[in-house]
Amino acid sequence: MQKIIILDFGSQTTQLIGRRVRELGTFCEILPFDRFPHGDPDVIGVILSGSPLSVYAPDALLPDLSGVFDRYPVLGICYGAQLISHIHGGKVENSGSREYGRALLSFVDRNCELFGGIAAGSQVWMSHGDSITALPEGFRLAASTDSVRNAAFWNPERRIWGVQFHPEVAHTTQGKQLLEHFVVDICRSRREWSSDSFVETTVRDLRAEIGDGKVILGLSGGVDSTVAAVLLNKAVGSNLTGIFVNHGLLRKHEFENVLADYHRLGLNVRGVDASSIFLNALDGVEDPEQKRRIIGRLFVEVFEAEAAKIPGVGFLAQGTIYPDRIESRNITGKVIKSHHNVGGLPEHLKLKLCEPLKWLFKDEVRSVGLSLGIPEHMLFRHPFPGPGLAVRILGAITPEKVRILQDVDDIFIRSLREEGLYGDIWQAGAILLPVRTVGVMGDERTYDYAVVLRAVTSSDAMTADWAFLPEGYLRRLSNEIINKVRGVNRVCYDISSKPPSTIEWE
Ligand code: XMP
Repeated sequence: MQKIIILDFGSQTTQLIGRRVRELGTFCEILPFDRFPHGDPDVIGVILSGSPLSVYAPDALLPDLSGVFDRYPVLGICYGAQLISHIHGGKVENSGSREYGRALLSFVDRNCELFGGIAAGSQVWMSHGDSITALPEGFRLAASTDSVRNAAFWNPERRIWGVQFHPEVAHTTQGKQLLEHFVVDICRSRREWSSDSFVETTVRDLRAEIGDGKVILGLSGGVDSTVAAVLLNKAVGSNLTGIFVNHGLLRKHEFENVLADYHRLGLNVRGVDASSIFLNALDGVEDPEQKRRIIGRLFVEVFEAEAAKIPGVGFLAQGTIYPDRIESRNITGKVIKSHHNVGGLPEHLKLKLCEPLKWLFKDEVRSVGLSLGIPEHMLFRHPFPGPGLAVRILGAITPEKVRILQDVDDIFIRSLREEGLYGDIWQAGAILLPVRTVGVMGDERTYDYAVVLRAVTSSDAMTADWAFLPEGYLRRLSNEIINKVRGVNRVCYDISSKPPSTIEWE
């Protein structure tokens, strides 16, 4: 399949470039800046990403791109444009101050293919500390803003383009159009990439890879593992066994409901109720990281014991998706992202790893899920942490506290759905505090737990804002929780954003 290569120099928006290219129906791979796949016959064009670095700094990333220029069309974005200029003898200098934010194009060369239909007055998004002050020989000015003369340039003979602004972000209002000119008009993408084509080719590849082999997959009820399971089921049917472990810290009725959903989808899934093993091991444990370690270790043990009951398993499938694998994080040492996954899966089982979603972004996983006929309530559910309610019950966990929190959480999530608010929120849940407070109910004094409600908006969980829920709704919700959940007499709403707080409390 045709593909665009995006060489990553560590920008925060590299993944966004990838998503835009995919939205244009074109497959792309994001690779570290110095790992261009020379010789790959499917490459039709190259995009050089932005970077927090400077091309003339001692730590600049200056790969040898001699086999790239003049062989493929190349588009440089921000640092990528500066790099093109620097390599070809242009001048890049510090602009004195960081240029950040919206700007309007004041000049556009109508002959430049990249800008077809994009005229002076169009809004672009700038974010750079360096500017290209002199273009290299043979390169022509393509667009300017009032403050940045060389906002875009090109070399039509060598098929090289550079833009100082960021076409991948929504603030560049015609950015998608610009990228379409590059990907479709210039690189001649046949636009073969779609959810349906992905399902078709992946099912075919999985059949070839797995043959009559047996596959196991850990299911969590989450979007990624569900889509991976349905895809594998389509490819190998009952040779796939899904294992869904109940650690006793799931949402109320989650184990039964999700298991029923899996069975409705025709999946061969084993539900393992290991609640008592987990709750016993967690008895008296207060430290959040220790809770995570215990749950991770037990999860692997339970999973392995169940897997051992299936004779002749050759493959371990995982719902790993593309953002989990992109190696952008360590390129500059400045972009840091940590991943939390329950446990990690058993390496010593000597199983071959099978990751059918490893090329997909999250929104693509959902579209593939829709193509596969997975119901929307499974595909558009909020993220839920692997250790579950264990990290929402602050301090020691008891079965009584699990019951209280499940009831509160259930009322909260159900009401968000009923009020039509669920879809606007990235993630919501309740936290049980390890304190009791005084209240009065009827004429009686109460001394019960305080719970916190947390609802955030986000696009990737790296940053999050607390969600502004309607006052009337919060009022009704608080009443319902205190009236219905035995053991709770106070409800608080968390108004902290991430950073400096985190989404979970532990
Ligand atoms: P924080 O609390 O770090 O959470 O802002 C960011 C996202 O990660 C989820 N999260 C976890 N997921 N195991 C998981 O599988 C964990 O230990 C874990 N801790 C946090 C959290 O729910 C949010 O979506």
